[in-house]
Amino acid sequence: MNSLISESRGRPGDDPIFTINAAANARKAQGEPVINASLGALLDDDGSLSVMPTVFEAFQAVPAQQAAAYAPIAGDPPFLEAVRRDAFGSGSMFENSVAAATPGGTGALLNAMMNFLEPGQSIYTSSYYWSPYRIIAGHNRRGVETFPMFDGAGAGAFHLEAFEEGLVAQLRRQGRALVILNFPCHNPTGYTLDEKEWRGVAAALGRASEHGSVALVVDLAYAAFGTQSPSLWVDAMETVCDRVAVLAAWTASKSFAQYGARVGALVASIPDPAHRADVENAISYTCRGSWSNCNHLGLLAVSHLLTDEGLRARVAGEREALVSLLSERVDAFNTAAIARGLIYPRYEGGFFVSVFTPDATETARVAAVDGVYVVPMDGAVRVALCAVSSADVPRLVDAVSRGVDAANLSKDKAHA
Ligand SMILES: Cc1ncc(COP(=O)(O)O)c(C=O)c1O
Repeated sequence: MNSLISESRGRPGDDPIFTINAAANARKAQGEPVINASLGALLDDDGSLSVMPTVFEAFQAVPAQQAAAYAPIAGDPPFLEAVRRDAFGSGSMFENSVAAATPGGTGALLNAMMNFLEPGQSIYTSSYYWSPYRIIAGHNRRGVETFPMFDGAGAGAFHLEAFEEGLVAQLRRQGRALVILNFPCHNPTGYTLDEKEWRGVAAALGRASEHGSVALVVDLAYAAFGTQSPSLWVDAMETVCDRVAVLAAWTASKSFAQYGARVGALVASIPDPAHRADVENAISYTCRGSWSNCNHLGLLAVSHLLTDEGLRARVAGEREALVSLLSERVDAFNTAAIARGLIYPRYEGGFFVSVFTPDATETARVAAVDGVYVVPMDGAVRVALCAVSSADVPRLVDAVSRGVDAANLSKDKAHA
């Protein structure tokens, strides 16, 4: 007899991306010249994980007695103030904000879903999204609804009209909405909203809030790797933060290259003081009811890295070097992909880009025959440039391009 409850049976044992990664590594171990563009961690050109030395210094400097002690449930106040400032700058959204420490951005997203949606309701996000959104939502009795991310055929631009239309329709049904937008540097497409698009999103949220309660979570996972000023989205949201709860899923995973430290926070700007206090209690309560408290060593170290001017400047320099490394790959990709006629969204920075294809499974299969591993999704393959040296980018683009050609050929045959 199966002792699992019915909904827990038949769960996939591993994330499909980790399965692709394992296949790529198995061939690499046989000595094959594999390009593994599956996993979302920033690697140096020699394939080793990129790290920031100053971050480790800060971890080592935390006194043992403090590191070993439990953190406060919601996180240490200096950490919370530092992430509020890092997310919102120094304007009114910062002044009106509260926060709770979470295990990475993942914990922040879970916390938001638990507190800003009723059980049975759905988050609202773009049609391309980080697939764990669905796992986190589903595991917590919430669902996922999407809007078509891009307008028109081919690469397209952010589909603002579809965003607003779907949001209003959802508000009419649910009476509330929790919008999750992962910009700058969207995973998996690489897209970053420009200033006009951020303003368009803010205006749409403001109008939609006439139909029900609207909360927006900006998932900042890769924001530090964009070329855009962080104040762009904050300035846009300042115009509607009196009507829309503006939240940020903040994480040190990528911005401090500390994927394993599990340091993050949910930050929420709520203008009304009584409402703000209620939100502060609610998000702290969710911490207690899930992971209890976070990695204290990580919280203390990251808090020093954010507040000590000297450490902050050194980390900024180390991060800048990683952003440049990634930018070289982005440039190499754009050059090669344009030359090959690949169709993909505007891509200016970030760990990933997606290439559109009529048959993603076929495209990924053909690329893998050439030793290039990418992740198939609905209508596109995701390419993790964070893990590929610039020198390897032309070979990667060639293989993906052959994969897209093969997919087009089989589509044409099917239609003949
Ligand atoms: C879009 C997106 N959001 C959030 C996360 C959360 O990462 P973490 O929990 O490590 O902060 C990731 C990690 O890959 C991501 O890709």
